[in-house]
Amino acid sequence: MRSMIPERLELHLADGTAVVARPLSPADRDYVAEGYRLLSPEARYQRFWVRDGAVIGDAMLDRLLTDQLPEHAIWTVFDPTREGFPGLGAASFWRSKTDPLDAEFSVTVMDADQGKGVATLLLAILWLAAYRCGIQSFTGYSMPENASALHWMRDTGAAGEWDGYNLVFRWSLEDLDAIPETAAGADLAERLAELAPAFL
Ligand SMILES: CC(C)(COP(=O)(O)OP(=O)(O)OC[C@H]1O[C@@H](n2cnc3c(N)ncnc32)[C@H](O)[C@@H]1OP(=O)(O)O)[C@@H](O)C(=O)NCCC(=O)NCCS
Repeated sequence: MRSMIPERLELHLADGTAVVARPLSPADRDYVAEGYRLLSPEARYQRFWVRDGAVIGDAMLDRLLTDQLPEHAIWTVFDPTREGFPGLGAASFWRSKTDPLDAEFSVTVMDADQGKGVATLLLAILWLAAYRCGIQSFTGYSMPENASALHWMRDTGAAGEWDGYNLVFRWSLEDLDAIPETAAGADLAERLAELAPAFL
């Protein structure tokens, strides 16, 4: 399965920045730890649901980097010309143990790189990788006060519902017609068309 999934993609953001997307592996512990450290406490809380400090734990690193396709994938987008930490963001999915047609999706973009299409690019990459593995839907969780995530999930075609605790969003990976004609939706549809030949 893995041999059908690309290992490096050279792409451009809408503002013309040349970026590279690649899967993360167990060799990337320092990279992930540094990205985690550099996130704002707010972004860290929104993605990892913890408020206690800038050091990622070993158990979380193991969880993020150890499992492999077709159960799990994690990709980053980075700017190879950037001084210091090159990462712009990362996203992952885990296939559900109870429903193998569904996977939990999550994404984090560095604070200064938000609003440039990085999350949408990562969603398109993981969408295609997951679809290639027989996954038909992504489920994402968000706290109700996370307005930017709520807008973005909705604008990329996820249907949301309140489960009494969090907002639960679901993207249907098979139904491209469900992607709305929003700016983020159009961006997602373009990325899926651009990248599909490399994955499918
Ligand atoms: C939610 C989150 C992932 C979005 O990431 P992002 O990279 O900013 O997302 P995008 O840039 O792809 O899209 C965000 C918005 O920017 C807009 N945008 C994208 N490229 C753009 C461009 N070139 N010019 C203007 N606007 C642009 C999109 O249309 C989208 O608008 P919308 O939110 O009104 O739909 C990010 O805010 C984040 O990491 N938050 C912290 C962690 C978190 O909450 N994760 C989600 C729960 S798992």
